[in-house]
Amino acid sequence: MDRVYLSPPDVGEADRDALNRAFDSGWIAPLGPEVDAFEVELAEKIGRSNAVALSSGTAALHLGLLLEGVGAGDKVLVSSLTFSATANAISYVGAEPVFIDSDAETWNMDPSLLNEALKSGSYAACMPVDIYGQCADYSQIEAACREHGVALIEDAAEALGATLHGRPAGSFGDVAALSFNGNKIITTSGGGALLTDDEDAAAEARFLATQARDPAPHYQHSRIGYNYRLSNLLAALGRSQLSDLDRRVEVRRRINATYRDGLGDLDGIEFMPEAEGSHSTFWLTVLTVDPSVTGVHREELRTVLEEQNIEARPAWKPMHLQPVFAECESFGGETSSRLFDQGLCLPSGSNLSASDQQRVIDVIRATLGN
Ligand SMILES: Cc1ncc(COP(=O)(O)O)c(C=O)c1O
Repeated sequence: MDRVYLSPPDVGEADRDALNRAFDSGWIAPLGPEVDAFEVELAEKIGRSNAVALSSGTAALHLGLLLEGVGAGDKVLVSSLTFSATANAISYVGAEPVFIDSDAETWNMDPSLLNEALKSGSYAACMPVDIYGQCADYSQIEAACREHGVALIEDAAEALGATLHGRPAGSFGDVAALSFNGNKIITTSGGGALLTDDEDAAAEARFLATQARDPAPHYQHSRIGYNYRLSNLLAALGRSQLSDLDRRVEVRRRINATYRDGLGDLDGIEFMPEAEGSHSTFWLTVLTVDPSVTGVHREELRTVLEEQNIEARPAWKPMHLQPVFAECESFGGETSSRLFDQGLCLPSGSNLSASDQQRVIDVIRATLGN
């Protein structure tokens, strides 16, 4: 049986044509008309005045921290339930991550724990993550950060296409980061973007991303720079992918609804909730398996799926449980620990066929004895 992947790239003829167009133009470089156009189209889609196309979402997070002046000795509040890239970027600038647990109702940063942390210490920035395609609770988070004078950096790597009360993911905070790696809702194979409404910050991001080259005819550098720009070829791919974003959101939401229809009646199974006012992309459909009810641990279920050539993955192991961040401070931790212990991400790609999804549902039902 063919392998069913978690979230493979969804690419087609239009993408091939876009790549060929860029290739034939001769702009085989980390700049060019496709990069410029991708930035304009991305900013417009998200309602930001600036987008800076970069080589990865991690690069966007790193530059975002630099733009907000975060550096050695600073502390940064960050969601514990995330991919390591979010916390790694904090370490790149010499700052220290302080982890905030998830709210059980949204799986995103718990605003009450954030407030507790903000009252108890001094922080340079706050980095909430829009987990699995759903925006964090920015009505509370933005207000808390403003009150305490803390910079807000939105990690929207997993949530392009989502909205909260009609506002798009990537439009929150001083700066936001997107990822276009191979498993994201749109992909450039590898890539990312930094979003901001601050013209000067966008110019600074472009400067830092191209080796911080001073305006001189020779090569002169007064600051440390990075090689973080997205190539013109990949920007062409990004443009064709972006033009298909709305359809992809609809497809992933339909996949989520089909899983709910097919599995929602099983005792001990819960799906990641969609918060009020939130329009999630369901980039990944994630469910929890309570072993005290089902008699089956999520790892057992994952293994059975793997035996059937179906790729499912445990929910993120939270950062407060990672050996590399063992010494870091954290607020709460039980919710994200439970989500890791019980959470399983199911195949959710926008090119998942109905028959493959039915295969996944059938294996899960059979394993849980239904
Ligand atoms: C929450 C989160 N932040 C950051 C990243 C990093 O993005 P990239 O892989 O493009 O560097 C990812 C995904 O890879 C992610 O899931």
